[in-house]
Amino acid sequence: MKKEINIGLLGFGTVASSLYHIFNERRKEINSLFPAPVNIKKIFTRGNSHPVPENVKGFLVKNIDEILEDKDIDIIIELIGGISPAKGFIIKAVNNGKSIITANKALLAEHGEEIFKQCLNKNVHIGFEAAVGGGIPILRAIKNGLAGDSIKSVYSIINGTSNFILSKMTNEGGKFEDVLKKAQEKGYAEADPSLDINGADSAHKLVVLGRLAFSTSLSIKDVIIEGIKDINPLDVNFSKELGYTIKLLGILKNEDSRIEIRVHPTLIPSSCLLSKVDGVFNAFFLNTKYAGPLSLTGYGAGGNPTASAVMGDLMEIAGKIINNDNHHDFIISENINKLKVKSKNEIISRYYLRFSAMDRPGVLAKIASILGDNSISISSMIQKGRKVEGSVPIVITTHEANEEDLFKSVKLCDNLDVVSAKTVVLRIEDRIN
Ligand code: HSE
Repeated sequence: MKKEINIGLLGFGTVASSLYHIFNERRKEINSLFPAPVNIKKIFTRGNSHPVPENVKGFLVKNIDEILEDKDIDIIIELIGGISPAKGFIIKAVNNGKSIITANKALLAEHGEEIFKQCLNKNVHIGFEAAVGGGIPILRAIKNGLAGDSIKSVYSIINGTSNFILSKMTNEGGKFEDVLKKAQEKGYAEADPSLDINGADSAHKLVVLGRLAFSTSLSIKDVIIEGIKDINPLDVNFSKELGYTIKLLGILKNEDSRIEIRVHPTLIPSSCLLSKVDGVFNAFFLNTKYAGPLSLTGYGAGGNPTASAVMGDLMEIAGKIINNDNHHDFIISENINKLKVKSKNEIISRYYLRFSAMDRPGVLAKIASILGDNSISISSMIQKGRKVEGSVPIVITTHEANEEDLFKSVKLCDNLDVVSAKTVVLRIEDRIN
């Protein structure tokens, strides 16, 4: 049995400094659970992290190889983020027989298969609970609690920044640009919020989550991705009037072994619990075959919540190393499915359409006729007021329609000389769980 477990910590930013603090605060309890002490032995930073406290300076190493090639280090906790140099550090650590804990969703979404394969080859463990949903133990719920069940769908809010902005627009009003600016001033959005608001951050998390939920390999290229920057207060208000709330959702569905994986602003019923998950909170609403509907909500980001998820992985992996348990999580197994992922054209959904049209006799009839000719059935229609910048908004919701038919007919409508701007198309999900 090992005499001690040593950790090499990569990075000392928000999450790593919280981890260091929690680890020391909980040290006594942690060590009482294991027959061998667990220590943070060395820390590597790239110099752009938080100021390192005096009592931590003694752990700092200048050269990453002082950690990656230290034979006494068993576990690397990677909290640097991004693809490079994190990927190189992780591969080298794995090749040197070290287990990995990471919060790096971009790296796992882009290179997860390669990293998992290498972990299997070298017989080391990997934990990545912190990569999806911050402090919410969603991966552990799927891989342990639901291991024997079958997940049919997941509706998730997995980007706190976007959820904060959309909640403000819904509850207090305001244009996207103004709300984003306020969020940045208050520190709720990054100076460069692109990955959050364009849906990429949610897509990375959804690829990692989908692999576990459906035991199938997924690629970032499989994901239909739309962000929130074009959400207009008009759409927020029309949605409310129709009984819906707009949320940036990450959606996973498995229908007869055909997968849907998409991130986009979505109208969901204002009466459902998911619509009430506001601000920086994240949420996962699952539909399972046997356990039925389940939901988890909590902080999806931040130092302490994310570090709590890292601690969970640390407890599991340290326990396995101490007990010489070489059993691998089935989540990184190569014997996973290769399920077919639906393309955009194969999606069936209800839609919200906002046309900007001239307020003249016969305009609505022309739009309705194009929709009807393309198998799009209208569910409801709103037209109010006269002339907003030379045109009026006409809002139509549809019954379930095929996405290819929908976009074909919207294109035809946009070519009409009575339609003055590109039509807004948003998807509607009526049944969350
Ligand atoms: N930037 C992410 C968010 C948190 O806004 O939710 C880190 O994954």
